[in-house]
Amino acid sequence: MEHKKAVWITGTSSGIGRALAIEFAKNGETVIATSRNKSLIQNIKTDLGSKSKNVIPYELDIRDYNSIWSFFSEVSKSFSINCLINNAGLSSFKPSYEDSVEEIKNIIEVNLLGAIYCIKTVLPSMFSRNDGTIINILSVVTQKLFTNSSTYSASKNGLMAYSKVLREEVRNKNIRVLNVYPGATKTSIWPNHILEKYSHRMMTPEEIAKVVFQIYSQKSNVVTEEILLRPIQGDL
Ligand SMILES: NC(=O)c1ccc[n+]([C@@H]2O[C@H](COP(=O)([O-])OP(=O)(O)OC[C@H]3O[C@@H](n4cnc5c(N)ncnc54)[C@H](OP(=O)(O)O)[C@@H]3O)[C@@H](O)[C@H]2O)c1
Repeated sequence: MEHKKAVWITGTSSGIGRALAIEFAKNGETVIATSRNKSLIQNIKTDLGSKSKNVIPYELDIRDYNSIWSFFSEVSKSFSINCLINNAGLSSFKPSYEDSVEEIKNIIEVNLLGAIYCIKTVLPSMFSRNDGTIINILSVVTQKLFTNSSTYSASKNGLMAYSKVLREEVRNKNIRVLNVYPGATKTSIWPNHILEKYSHRMMTPEEIAKVVFQIYSQKSNVVTEEILLRPIQGDL
């Protein structure tokens, strides 16, 4: 019997990832929702009512390749992951010279290495099915220079470069690579003083999630490979 198809979303305990899990589940997709905090993902189910069974939470720290592999082997016994959404991420909002080595390492390990580890994990099964979608939640920092986000910019620009090369390598295997570049969105990634000042002009995670679901569900020869999303009043 063929396994049920599922969408794996990383970083679903809050913000954009949480909104993505809800949007995809509401639209009938089975969502494998991962982050380090499983109980926060569990909360999503209360928002979903009858669709709550569509979300399956797993605890996973994407900095650890071995854990990703064990998680994926377990999930693959029941599901075939036809879409990976690399969403987990963090920033520091400080000048480069104030970032500690630990902060730098953490940002690169989650935003860049973790995302690449997840891609590497899902690709063999996508190859064998000759089908798949990889969606990367990147950032407007790939389009414009922002101070106080040097390591974050390095991580997002790194993943953008990686995924643009990957896209050309996997097109002939019917795998879509979609890069989403959001501008300021109202989530807890931002420090409180910025949220207090600017949250009224930020996009919401729900608005981002709707666009991502639209480009995911565009099942035709047309692929929205790159999409830049900004609040109407522009960057902060
Ligand atoms: N908000 C914006 O303005 C904005 C703009 C452009 C791009 N983005 C991108 O959107 C994505 C989501 O961010 P957000 O704004 O929604 O922030 P958020 O609310 O802080 O969510 C970040 C998510 O990443 C997860 N995460 C952090 N470290 C992790 C790790 N080691 N392993 C697994 N998961 C980890 C967190 O879960 P746990 O802590 O439970 O693990 C959390 O669910 C990020 O990639 C961010 O760069 C955000």
